[in-house]
Amino acid sequence: MNTQSTTVYRAAILNFLSDPDIDGESAYQFFQDGALVIEHGKVKELGEASLVLASLATDVSIVNYQDHLIIPGLIDTHIHYPQVEVIASYGEQLMDWLNNYTFPAEGQFEDKAYASNIANFFLDELLKCGTTTAMVFGTVHKQSVEAFFEASEKRNTRMICGKVMMDRNAPEFLCDTPESSYDDSKQLIETWHNNGRQLYAVTPRFAITSTHQQLQKAEQLLSEYPDVYMQTHISENKDEMAFVSELFPQAKDYLDVYDQYNLLGKRSVFAHGIHLNNREHQRLRETESSVSFCPTSNLFLGSGLLDIKKLEQQQVSYSVATDVGGGTSFSMLQTLSEAYKVTQLNNNKLSPLKSLYLATLGNAKTLQLDDKIGSFKKGNEADFVVLDFNSTSIMSLKQKKCKTLAEKLFAMIILGDDRAVKATYVEGHCAHQRDAIR
Ligand code: GUN
Ligand code: ZN
Repeated sequence: MNTQSTTVYRAAILNFLSDPDIDGESAYQFFQDGALVIEHGKVKELGEASLVLASLATDVSIVNYQDHLIIPGLIDTHIHYPQVEVIASYGEQLMDWLNNYTFPAEGQFEDKAYASNIANFFLDELLKCGTTTAMVFGTVHKQSVEAFFEASEKRNTRMICGKVMMDRNAPEFLCDTPESSYDDSKQLIETWHNNGRQLYAVTPRFAITSTHQQLQKAEQLLSEYPDVYMQTHISENKDEMAFVSELFPQAKDYLDVYDQYNLLGKRSVFAHGIHLNNREHQRLRETESSVSFCPTSNLFLGSGLLDIKKLEQQQVSYSVATDVGGGTSFSMLQTLSEAYKVTQLNNNKLSPLKSLYLATLGNAKTLQLDDKIGSFKKGNEADFVVLDFNSTSIMSLKQKKCKTLAEKLFAMIILGDDRAVKATYVEGHCAHQRDAIR
């Protein structure tokens, strides 16, 4: 057997098969001394190290990550790469935050060199945090998305991105037209969708910034390219919602605006969805659309507390995301930590196993990508993260007191950030390696 390209990673390994809130212990595999076998960038085998190693040829290379935990690459279902420099902007809620900080910042992406620079920074930051796949907004400029996909292609990361469509209620320099947004999106889809690991999302920013004619163009794109994604925002802020009802008086509610243009579906991701009504939940369920929960953003912009228990009761699928630059961290660990606090404020509990399920297989499922990423299923693309239980003094101290796996994972989530990421692998190649720190 040719073992040249076979590498075995030995560490504690956690892998999800299904939702631990539904299936309990049978929802996941945990190997205290595990071995993950990667061949040609794909998962070949996962199991107990003693068994796996005994079955392999003696000349395979073995990488030891003792005292570390390997999990599948983290997935972020909603983030804005052009908002890197907007992060930590003081004092405003959504509409003023957009007008005062975000729109001016996005104007700079007309310059492709500027866009490339930020795209490279952004992707390195994600990899540093263990995130290997994200669903990403560009700006209104076509070249912003070209710059992004070029930077992602260079790293071979599986990314979803789209050119923002916006033709009203924004500064002149950020507005396209229904026709130009259609033409630019179409060219980007033709060039980039399913090109290597890149995927395209039709991206009307939100109902406020698109005319009827532009939403029709979004609809046309989705009907011409049924396997592309759709991403937008919904029901994040009360002022935003009031403006939407003024602009679309004939719509039943916010979701109905998008529904009228057939923008709902299993590849449609609606960010926030904090203030949705029962009818909207029902339509999301019927159409298999999903809501993206962005806790750091919702807290930072004072938008509100998403009730994920309600979504579960209504059988609406949801994922977890950072929403940088409304969100305040690139780290999915920090994002899960804030998600936990939001559930506490809703008198609910988000368990550590459920949290890590969401950030891996759960998010992959909402993106219809669980046949490729999100778990160590045989044949999946080998994106994975190596987490360090001793990444900081306090993490190390706390871990020694933890007795159960759940306790250890909870401490990792609550105390972890980019320092907890020892290494990030993209299709079997090391894409980030943290220096020794403590
Ligand atoms: N709604 C419309 N655009 C945006 C954005 O860029 N960020 C957030 N958080 N909400 C939005
Ligand atoms: Zn957003």
